[in-house]
Amino acid sequence: MTSLITMDDLTNEEIISILDIAEQMLPIARGEAYTPILSGKVLANLFFEPSTRTRMSFEAAMKRLGGSVLNLGDVSTSSVVKGETLFDTMQMMDGYADIAVIRHPRQGAAKYSSDAVEIPVINAGDGAGHHPTQTLLDLFTIRKCHGTLEGLQVALVGDLRYGRTVHSLSGALARFGSSLTFISPSSLSMPREIVQDLRNSGVDIVETEDFLGSIESLDVIYMTRIQKERFPDEEEYRKVAGVFCLTAKDLVNAKKNMIIMHPLPRVNEIAPDVDSTPHAKYFEQAFYGVVARMALLCRLLEVDVQEAIE
Ligand code: CP
Repeated sequence: MTSLITMDDLTNEEIISILDIAEQMLPIARGEAYTPILSGKVLANLFFEPSTRTRMSFEAAMKRLGGSVLNLGDVSTSSVVKGETLFDTMQMMDGYADIAVIRHPRQGAAKYSSDAVEIPVINAGDGAGHHPTQTLLDLFTIRKCHGTLEGLQVALVGDLRYGRTVHSLSGALARFGSSLTFISPSSLSMPREIVQDLRNSGVDIVETEDFLGSIESLDVIYMTRIQKERFPDEEEYRKVAGVFCLTAKDLVNAKKNMIIMHPLPRVNEIAPDVDSTPHAKYFEQAFYGVVARMALLCRLLEVDVQEAIE
């Protein structure tokens, strides 16, 4: 792997190896240890779409490991507003940085960028396409809470049509043998090609609009935001906005160890009264973004973590 554009760039063994390294990074991410194994390395953060967690956790990961970060910053203050193309912007990165992280509203922009440069490129979200580093931290969270990635019953809820997090996560979970329930309004169902690919590879999938019908059998509920910014027509958004909202009283029949995840930001999909239940893992999940991204950066920058830490 020289860049990470989709989860297909990683084998199951590579995923497990990244999660194992991420586990070792926990004391560094918490500030309990300082191991500057990325000292001298420079990351370029190129966010053409808003972000809090992905941008800042990449920055935290790099800095906690002794590296440094260049931010494109607010796109409206960059030369993009003068008409510079993505290709030309990327050409600069080969000279300025050792690795680049890109988020862009256009599906395929990360792959296009990685083809334009020599340095590794990490897809931090390309439109309604993929978000593989979110999947790494999601898998880390699931394994941390359930002790395994295998054989789980997972419900993905909300905007499955435009939701790049669930596009990446569904395939990865399937590869580890999870059963998947896709819960969405019909207008926001998982793209047919993803469902077909999963079914062709033998994955057990249920598609439904019934939000809480199977809650007692689930190990993971993965909520997602209905993404207003992806709708071509605001009227269509208004028809489905707020359709699913999980509250604490909905959880009475849930398994004790069932976990609730969300890539965040949430709008109104999870009521605040869920936060204090033992099921709520979404803030912990966001923290695990730091270790998952630390492990990935080390791998792409070809730093031998074992040798450096021992
Ligand atoms: N989960 C996620 O991608 O969050 P941000 O949009 O804040 O980066």
